[in-house]
Amino acid sequence: MKVVIRRFREGKLQEENFQVKVERGTTILDLLYRIREQDPGLSFRAMCRAGICGTCAVKVNGEPKLACTTPANGHGELLIEPLDNSVYLKDLVVEHKDIFARLKRARVRLEAYKETFVKPSDMQKLWKSKDCILCGICNSVCPSLQTDREFGAPSTFTKAFGVVEDPRNANSEDSLKALLPLDIQGCVHCKNCDIFCPKGCSPEILIKLLEGKMLKKGYIQKREEDFGFLGF
Ligand code: SF4
Ligand code: SF4
Ligand code: FES
Repeated sequence: MKVVIRRFREGKLQEENFQVKVERGTTILDLLYRIREQDPGLSFRAMCRAGICGTCAVKVNGEPKLACTTPANGHGELLIEPLDNSVYLKDLVVEHKDIFARLKRARVRLEAYKETFVKPSDMQKLWKSKDCILCGICNSVCPSLQTDREFGAPSTFTKAFGVVEDPRNANSEDSLKALLPLDIQGCVHCKNCDIFCPKGCSPEILIKLLEGKMLKKGYIQKREEDFGFLGF
């Protein structure tokens, strides 16, 4: 199979072609390892090979995917690129520091615990948030983040939801207030993040729930929609 790698080298993205053998069950990550046998200088990131560590996200034929869980067969030709909306480091490797810096800024952590009985139904509510592996795919397809770097990022709000709603959080109110500088209303609800999230975390839904909670508590005000052109 012909595989084109768009890699970041010498300050720009450059395309290089490879021929790789692909069988049934070969993943994009297997294929990258095979290409590295031909070109030992090829850089990409991967650890768990099981869709858990969140490090291997790349673009495959234009769509962001986890390389380790995406089959390589069934395509005539493959184009593999680094994620969009990211700082490129080398070849397919992008910077992940921004994801963690945003979590830190939003204080996405349990700062005060309370002992309480946690019902399975309470935890069920948190699953989408807890399943997030911080792969950065949602951020790479978020138009709000592309135009407004102050916007908190879907990955931040996804993780924050699990902290705000955690029944063991003794300071859930503070956890919610810590999100106020992150312009949650900057989300344009395009649902790109829900569509491409490989873990089904539905960041847009979690953003809507957090936003609703902030509105209800009066921490933010409903923004007027610009329907002026309709004349009412
Ligand atoms: S919400 Fe989904 S796409 Fe975004 S970082 Fe978490 S796992 Fe990745
Ligand atoms: S729904 Fe909101 S957070 Fe998700 S990609 Fe669109 S603008 Fe970004
Ligand atoms: S290598 Fe860990 S998620 Fe792909």
